[in-house]
Amino acid sequence: MAIQKTYSMIKPDGVRNGHIGEIVNRFERAGLTVERMELGMVTLDQAKANYAEHEGKPFYDGLISYITSGPVVKMVISGEGAVAKVRTLMGATNPAEAAPGTIRGDFGLIMDENVIHGSDSPESAEREIGIFFA
Ligand code: PPS
Repeated sequence: MAIQKTYSMIKPDGVRNGHIGEIVNRFERAGLTVERMELGMVTLDQAKANYAEHEGKPFYDGLISYITSGPVVKMVISGEGAVAKVRTLMGATNPAEAAPGTIRGDFGLIMDENVIHGSDSPESAEREIGIFFA
């Protein structure tokens, strides 16, 4: 399988609740490499660009205010099949449906604050890396 890069972001609840180390540890134990990592705020422009496809959906406004509400960890992760590997480690979008052993299953509480983001395709990864590491 090809070496890929993906964008992943520990969301405000993941940072606030002290899960940075464990999440990075899980990525590294899975054979992935953290290529870039930065703790900081998401600007309104970055949030709107990242979630442009969801504009108009009922959860959109809440999602934008949540993702800009506190520090996040922005990461570029690389490795064999990195896009799918990170998504598998994350678990289902809704923490209530995420399997135990996944990041959302273990650390997520509610749908609106689900700990972590990961690009859903290599194309999204390239776009999102450009948004957050311009
Ligand atoms: S959908 O339903 O197909 O549009 O959802 P999806 O493509 O999986 O991504 C939606 C992103 O919005 C976040 N979010 C929610 N999704 C659905 N419902 C609710 N209530 C909701 N609240 C927030 C969800 O976590 C996805 O963000 P990322 O950062 O990609 O995980």
